[in-house]
Amino acid sequence: MLKEIQNRRSIRNYKKENISKETILDILKSGIKAPSAKNNQPWRFVIVNEAIKNKISNKMVELYGPNKTAEVIKTVPYLILIYNKDDEYFNHLAIGACMENMILEAESIGLGTLWIGYIKKIEDYVKELVNVDYELVSALAIGIKNENPIERPRLNLEEVLIIED
Ligand SMILES: Cc1cc2nc3c(=O)[nH]c(=O)nc-3n(C[C@H](O)[C@H](O)[C@H](O)COP(=O)(O)O)c2cc1C
Repeated sequence: MLKEIQNRRSIRNYKKENISKETILDILKSGIKAPSAKNNQPWRFVIVNEAIKNKISNKMVELYGPNKTAEVIKTVPYLILIYNKDDEYFNHLAIGACMENMILEAESIGLGTLWIGYIKKIEDYVKELVNVDYELVSALAIGIKNENPIERPRLNLEEVLIIED
């Protein structure tokens, strides 16, 4: 198994230290190498600034109470919003592949990530802040890890391999 797959964890605690914009762009470049149906490349990205990051985090706390995801959004140096450009059936699958490419690329250079699906709950609010008309699918937090979580449990292969002929 690839060591990045084996070692990756969702990281919910980040150092204050920043990372270079170049590094973030390199991670996005890995994202756009993902496969997509008919090579339609449905992903679109927005790198949000500090002010917007804070507003998103505050809104989550306002609506849902203090929570770890909102804390990550506030403290992580980079939050990338991932959009879907149109409503082709396979787009969300391709965007999932794009997300995983970026997550594994970040892991390979020692950075931590958190896939944030929860942002979907405040999509309308994000639309007020970020002038993009596409569908918001998820967000990706990227930063320097400040924790080293143990592996979260997974079902055994025998539990998910339902037929083996
Ligand atoms: C589609 C998707 C959405 C997720 N959304 C959130 C989120 O909003 N907040 C959060 O803390 N973790 C989120 N996660 C991370 C999962 O909780 C995590 O992947 C899972 O618990 C397994 O832990 P691991 O990633 O460390 O192996 C999301 C993961 C996926 C794939």
